[in-house]
This record gives sequence, structure tokens and C-alpha cells, in this order.
Amino acid sequence: MKHLLGVEDLERSDLEELLRITDSMVEVSQRAMPRVPALRGRTVVSVFFEDSTRTRLSFEAAAKRLSADTMSFSVGTSSVKKGESVRDTVETIEAMGVDAMVVRHRSAGVPDQIARWTSCSVINAGDGWHQHPTQALLDSYTIRAHLGGLDGRRIAIVGDVKHSRVARSDVQAFTLLGASVTLVAPPTLLPPSLEGWPVEVSHDLDAVLADQDVVYLLRMQRERMTEALVPSLREYTACFGLTIQRAARLAPHALVMHPGPMNRGVEIAAEVTDLPNAVIAEQVRNGVAVRMAVLFRLLAGTELGGAGAAAPVPEVNAEPGEDHG
Ligand code: NCD
Repeated sequence: MKHLLGVEDLERSDLEELLRITDSMVEVSQRAMPRVPALRGRTVVSVFFEDSTRTRLSFEAAAKRLSADTMSFSVGTSSVKKGESVRDTVETIEAMGVDAMVVRHRSAGVPDQIARWTSCSVINAGDGWHQHPTQALLDSYTIRAHLGGLDGRRIAIVGDVKHSRVARSDVQAFTLLGASVTLVAPPTLLPPSLEGWPVEVSHDLDAVLADQDVVYLLRMQRERMTEALVPSLREYTACFGLTIQRAARLAPHALVMHPGPMNRGVEIAAEVTDLPNAVIAEQVRNGVAVRMAVLFRLLAGTELGGAGAAAPVPEVNAEPGEDHG
């Protein structure tokens, strides 16, 4: 495996292997000194053309725990502001010697393009409405940690599926791992066609709530909406929000999940996030271990690319302070 561009490229065995490696990375993360030398000499750069808190920090923490060097690019402070193209930007970054690029962009397909333009490993950290594979891995890992596995489990993904790369990747990963998924949303927040989606659909959260092992809430992605798709946020919450009353009707073992960032009081009530079955902080924690597993799987044991190959150690003859004259 050279790149991680989408869950659609993976088999069940690939997912299971990554989840197994994640187990070891969780163990490393729990040590007093959570650092191993696995990727010493490698360079991982985050190339974010779109905003992020969790994903970006999580990848950087993951790379550091594996002793890789990290660099970071964000569009807001870059020459993209002067009109530099994505291609020129990534070729410039690659020329500095990097082994992996972690890419986020608001357009679907950009990480795939970058994988064709460069010779380093590319990890998709979210492209438009398309894919967010490491989110699907950390969500699968979190469910597996609590429920023992996904086989035969019922998972409801609730809310703005239409604009959600998380939903697309999660549906693929959850069903590959044996779960059945129900999308719960008003018709305006579902993709125009669900052809090829291995899911059931419901427009009635109250009708499906009690049967679920996991209720996965999506953020209302207002920045991606070009028109009003719900009459008002209040009405959305009344029908599709996980209120404390609705949460009381969940099965005792059922998990409440959210990828963040949350709109408290819209798709999820603030009190619900404090329930013992709400594992939102744990998703974030597992995110670091999952990203360590991905970096390890892609980079360990490969030829040193970037910095290692491009910059042989210069010969140093003189000790500091010796006479150079
Ligand atoms: C999501 C994203 O950016 O795709 N956040 C994340 O990475 N955890 C989901 C969202 O923006 O709603």
C-alpha cells in the first residue's frame, strides 16, 4: 500500500490489518514516553488547503510519536494567496524532500491528483464531499473497542449526509466490516442518488432509534450549502437532533458518536455529549493511534524517499573550534 486515498480502494483485510496495527499504537500512546523510533529520518508534511483542528493536529502528533520529522503547510499563509497552483505548490513541497503528504482540500479528487503528480505517499485527510478514510478507520476502531466488532451491528448515520465525506467513508468501512447502516435525514440532506450505497434510508429518527447499536451524528455543514435545505435549524433539531429525551430511548449499550466539530444544540444536545455512552473524545484519542498505524503501514520498511535520499550526510572533518586556517 503506497497511498491512502479512500476506503473504496480497501478490502476488508486491509481495514482489519490497519485496526490491528492501531492496537499496538494505542499501547505506545499509553506509555509514559509515547514515542517509538519507527519512522526516524522520514518526513511527513501536512498540506491543508482547508481548515482543520482535529485531523491536522492528530496527524502531526501521530508522526511525532513515530519519530518522523514534520512540516506543515496551510493555504492561509502560503503563496497560494499569490495565485500559485496546487500542482506547483506540491511540487515545491516535494522538492524539499518529503516521504508523505497528508492532504486536505475542498474539492473531491485533489489527493488522487497529487498522488499522480508526486512520488511520495499521499494520505487523504478529507477531499470535498468525497472521502475521509482515516476518520472511517478511527470510527471503526472506536466501535470495535466498545462492541467487540462491527459484524451484525446496526449503525444509524444521522443528518447532513449530502455534504459529508465522513458519511461516505464511514458507510463503506462499516459495511465492509459487516455492519448494516441506516441513513437518517430529511430528503434534502441526502445525496440525489443513493445508487451503489449499501444502506437503508429512513426519514424518521424516532422510528429507528431504539434498534441501533450506534447513533452517528453528522454536523450540519452550512459552509457547503448553497441554498436552505432545512426550513430552520430549530425544526431540524426538533426532528433529527439527538436531544436528551431521544438519547434516553437508546439501548443501554448503544454508542453516541460525532466526528466533530459539533454544533451543540443543533444535531446534538450539550447534555448528550456528557453521557457515558457518548464516545466523542475517545474518537479523537483513537484518531492519533489510527494515523500512526496508517503512517507506519505506508512508510515503514519502504525505501527512504525524500530527505533521506536527497540529502546524504555531508562529511565533517573539523571539530568545532579547530583551526580552519
Ligand atoms: C469532519 C471533516 O472535516 O470532514 N471533521 C473531521 O475531520 N473530524 C467533519 C465535518 O467537518 O463536519
